Amino acid sequence: MVRSIRPEEHAELGELAVRVYRQVLASDLETYAEVLRDAEGRLATGCEVLVAHDDGRVVGGVTYVPGPGPYAQLVDDDEAEIRMLVVDPASQGRGIGTALVQACIVRGEAAGKRSLVLGTMPVMVAAQQLYLRLGFVRRPERDSHIPGGAPLWCYSLPLDRATTNSRVGTRSPT
Ligand SMILES: CC(C)(COP(=O)(O)OP(=O)(O)OC[C@H]1O[C@@H](n2cnc3c(N)ncnc32)[C@H](O)[C@@H]1OP(=O)(O)O)[C@@H](O)C(=O)NCCC(=O)NCCS
Repeated sequence: MVRSIRPEEHAELGELAVRVYRQVLASDLETYAEVLRDAEGRLATGCEVLVAHDDGRVVGGVTYVPGPGPYAQLVDDDEAEIRMLVVDPASQGRGIGTALVQACIVRGEAAGKRSLVLGTMPVMVAAQQLYLRLGFVRRPERDSHIPGGAPLWCYSLPLDRATTNSRVGTRSPT
């Protein structure tokens, strides 16, 4: 269900991400909409863009940022970061978001990263619930702000193969 994005899916994921972020942030997103649509730009800088598909349709996506770079917001040298996690509202609550984050955990571990970090906004309550269930911890000392000043809350997950192997089995997509 979760795999690397294909070129013909760039536009589909871009439109999905813009629609979901507009809804959760109650904003037209301004220039951030173009960033969300630009899967090619993220891939060109070494990020991995993953999609969840269902019956030939893209129903979710996430960007795995392997370390510091233009798409990293909070990451330190030996960490990886998750960005732009979205699931189509019609497909939410079935474990797809969890599967996308688990795929990033697996990649971070395979790369020997110390931890996986992410920034989320206070209004993204479903995402925060998901992160906590997977073992992420809130790291207020690493909080930041997005351009424009809105708060970006940091969560991180220490990557340890033994504990992660047990944790990623906690929920399967339905
Ligand atoms: C976050 C998101 C990707 C989760 O996708 P999903 O496929 O529904 O995720 P899952 O089905 O794996 O898990 C959903 C979790 O959110 C919880 N949830 C859903 N709505 C919620 C709400 N209003 N308040 C609190 N938790 C909520 C569910 O209870 C579930 O947690 P649980 O399994 O511990 O009960 C999806 O809600 C989304 O696209 N949100 C908007 C974009 C966003 O906020 N992205 C995060 C960027 S940091």
